[in-house]
This record gives sequence, C-alpha cells and structure tokens, in this order.
Amino acid sequence: MFEHLNAVPPDPILGILAAYAADTNPRKIDLGIGVYRDETGNTPILQSVVKAEKTLIATQTTKSYLGPPGVAGFNDAMGELIFGHDSDTIKQGRVRTIQTPGGTAALRVGADLIRHTRPESGIWASDPTWANHLALFPAAGLPMDSYPYFDEINSDLRYEDMMEALKNRGAGDVVLFHACCHNPCGVSPDPAQWESITDLAAERGFTPMVDMAYMGFERGVEEDSLAVRLFSKKCPEVIVASSCSKNFAVYRERVGAISIVCENEQKAADVESVIHSLTRKNYSMPPTHGPGIIDIILHSDELTELWLSEVNAMRNRINGLRKTLAEKISASGISKDFSFLERQSGMFSFLGLSVEQVGRLKNEFAIYTVNSARVNIASFNDGNMDYFIEALATVL
Ligand code: LMR
Repeated sequence: MFEHLNAVPPDPILGILAAYAADTNPRKIDLGIGVYRDETGNTPILQSVVKAEKTLIATQTTKSYLGPPGVAGFNDAMGELIFGHDSDTIKQGRVRTIQTPGGTAALRVGADLIRHTRPESGIWASDPTWANHLALFPAAGLPMDSYPYFDEINSDLRYEDMMEALKNRGAGDVVLFHACCHNPCGVSPDPAQWESITDLAAERGFTPMVDMAYMGFERGVEEDSLAVRLFSKKCPEVIVASSCSKNFAVYRERVGAISIVCENEQKAADVESVIHSLTRKNYSMPPTHGPGIIDIILHSDELTELWLSEVNAMRNRINGLRKTLAEKISASGISKDFSFLERQSGMFSFLGLSVEQVGRLKNEFAIYTVNSARVNIASFNDGNMDYFIEALATVL
C-alpha cells in the first residue's frame, strides 16, 4: 500500500514548532506560530476559562454523545457574539451557527459545503493569505485564485487594486476575507472601506466567506465583527468561519464555529441539515469540552466581563509591543523604515526579509519566523527584543 509513498515537507507554520523545540540555544525566539504570549513567554490559560472549566467539571454528569450540532448554548452564544445581541439576521432566523473542531475545521466544512452545493465554484483569496488557506481549499476540491491585497513597498492595503479586481467577481464566485488582523500581513480595511467592500459584494452578487480567527485583537470584540455584520445585512448569503483559539486562548481544545447566513429561515434549516450530513462523513460530531467552557463564560455576565477584560489586555499588550518594537528599531540605527509595525494590528506583520535573511536569523541567531518573514509580534518581550533587533541589524 505505502511502498510509493514519500514523506512530505513539514507544514510551513506548524513545522516551526518542532524545529524550535529541538533548538538548544538559550536565546532562541519563536516568532512563528500565532499564539499569544505574556511577558514570560508563556501562553496563559485565561482566568475566565479556568473558572468556567471548574464549573463545567463540577456540573457535568455524562460524557454521552451530544449529536451533530454539539453544545447548543455555545452555538447560540457564538451566534450572538458574531452577529450582535440585537441582530436582525438572528431575529429573522437567517443564520445557523454550528460548532466545529477549531476555525480550520470551520473553513473546511465551509469549503465542503460550497463544493457540495456548487461544484463549479472557485474561491478568491487575498494575496497573500494564511498559508493553510492555500492548502485547505484545493484539498476540498475548490480551485483558488487571488485578488491584490498587500502593498509590499508601503506595507499597506492595495485598496483600489483590490476593489478593481473584485468588480470582476459575480454570482457563483466565493470571495474570502479576513474579518480583522489579517494573517499574515496585519493590514485590514478601515470601517469606511468595509462599507464599500460590502456594497460591492451586494452589487456584484459574489458570496463572501469571512475568516474570523482573531476577533477582539484588532479594535475590540464587538468592533471586529463589523465586516461580518455588514455582509450579513447587505448580502443574501454569507459564510463565516470563526475560531475561539486566540480570543479564548483555548488553542489545543479546538473550538470554532461555522455560521451560514441564508436568504430565509427555511433555507438556513436546509443548509444546517447539509452541514450535519457533511460533518457526519468527516469527524461525525464535534468535541464538547472547549465549547462547554465558552458556553458557561458567555452565559455569565460576570465571566463575560472578565473574559472581555482579558481579551482587551492581550490586544493592548500586542499594540504596546508594536509601538516599542518600531521605536527601538528606529533608535537602533537600522535605516529601513519599520514604523508600519505600529500601524498594523493583530499578531502578525511581515518584516520584508528575503528567504536567505530568514535563514540567517534561524541559523545564526536561533530566531524562528515563517519563511515569508511573517513574525508573531506577541512573542516579543523585554528580555528578547534587543537581541532580536541586533540580529535584524546584522541580517539587513
Ligand atoms: C498561524 O497562522 O500561525 C495560526 O493560525 C496557527 C496555525 O494553525 O497556522
């Protein structure tokens, strides 16, 4: 069976985890995978999660199957979080939110749904986009193409070029957007630009698919769902893949959700039945431990308040690191302009280094970034920033 099978290279992002773990250099820095880190370099368990998990364990009486929709309270609460507490989309019964094993599975279920419904559809993603988008959609049988997005020279958004390209998309096309904190470039449309993008989607009739993996890390939990809410108001159909990995810091618990906005309530029910049939053939049913925790948090005013304060603290720390890093690089004598770090948001930015320079950072300094020179800003701290800047100056 396997005699012709050859090993494949490690994943461009996950592969860094193993390489970093094996490195014995005491000064090593992992700027690769997108996880939040505190000043000590640890990825803490949020206090809201610790408290809710205790309640979950104390009150749970069975581990029997829950069925394809998973934790109903989680699905309802996530729907409200994403679409708003007073959402017309929810009131009209147009949306179904169903838990998935992480945001990646939400994307995959969305891709399977597109392929099942309209096998000839293609998907257009920003150039660049998350490395795993490029693997995941073709793996589900969807051809991928791209639209212009990142201006490498100015480290900014190619807004006009993007709009021009999207004018060529229409009914039957799916266009993938990042709701906030664009992965990998850290550049997002501003609210006025989202208004125009969502108008264009309604006018052209393409189907927006929104990847919302960093809700709360750009402007705030409520603010970061702007794109999803505008699309849902203006377009008959929207697909949203959300993740709780980052904002609830439950990475390894694999908690995410797929939300499908449809033209009417009946269609939403039909689509939900298709999703359950697709996931039954895949992972059968989603895990419930992580969603059970989040269900408890989002149904308690006290825990929700604590959680929101924890998300705000993570966002503020990353923004503070962006500012300090940009200032320190500028003060270090490096002539290349890195002030864009402060203007961008979320965990990621591109350093604008060549693959060779990325290799030197790794081989000479034990500093690990993705090959594209994407760095996780949350990995910096007082103890490693100066060492990183020295290394950066050397490879530049
Ligand atoms: C990342 O881009 O680093 C994260 O989304 C983690 C992952 O699964 O790639």
